Amino acid sequence: MEANSPLADLRGIAKHFGEGESRVDALRGLDLALYPGEVVGLLGPSGSGKSTLLNIIGCIIAPSTGHMTLDGKVVFDGGWTGGDLRKLRLDKIGFIFQFHNLLPFLNSRDNVAVVLELAGQGRAAARARADELLSYLEVDNRANAFPAHLSGGEAQRVAIARALANHPRLILADEPTAALDSQRAAIVLDLLRKVAREQSAAVLVVTHDEKIFDRFDRILRVRDGVLEG
Ligand SMILES: Nc1ncnc2c1ncn2[C@@H]1O[C@H](COP(=O)(O)OP(=O)(O)OP(=O)(O)O)[C@@H](O)[C@H]1O
Ligand SMILES: [Mg+2]
Repeated sequence: MEANSPLADLRGIAKHFGEGESRVDALRGLDLALYPGEVVGLLGPSGSGKSTLLNIIGCIIAPSTGHMTLDGKVVFDGGWTGGDLRKLRLDKIGFIFQFHNLLPFLNSRDNVAVVLELAGQGRAAARARADELLSYLEVDNRANAFPAHLSGGEAQRVAIARALANHPRLILADEPTAALDSQRAAIVLDLLRKVAREQSAAVLVVTHDEKIFDRFDRILRVRDGVLEG
């Protein structure tokens, strides 16, 4: 693959929910390409389709129509074409949500290790990789702590470690800094920039957070289900 080919390439993506009077057109024919090494902000009013778009790129929901290529493979062309979607998500995509979504009954290390075990790694290797990631994100001192005992910023960094565990080329974050103060929000964004650069990943971040606007390589605006130029 060429160095500058997109990690995600979406063409004519539309998505509606429901039918008839209850039909909602969340996305109305949207084109988007995300390239290795870039951190892109996705802005738009509530209900404009931001989360829907992230969930489509993350292969969590299917578009109604359109064409989507991830890391050079056609995964959607009027229907899913990529084979095992669960494996595709585990291998290629890291998700970060507004609230950390950590499993409350696992400590930080095992919250990260569990996704590696799901992907087929043995427990010892998974835990070693988890510790490496926790120290990369500077929360290794909290490896044995449970989510209830972490601060918001610590929990979000553990959640990012988990999202990075499988070396995803595509990192999708839905308001990852909404629960953090401005200093911690900036740290999270700087970490995502570092990951994008070092791992040639593309990072797409939904945000309303004006404090972090200057940290994006470019900003996309979505309104009523289309990207504004
Ligand atoms: N599963 C669903 N069933 C029905 N309608 C849905 C569903 N998911 C989203 N929608 C609708 O699609 C539109 C886009 O929703 P989406 O969640 O993508 O917006 P958003 O831009 O993420 O908003 P917010 O900033 O509030 O998170 C909204 O009108 C929403 O009500
Ligand atoms: Mg949303």
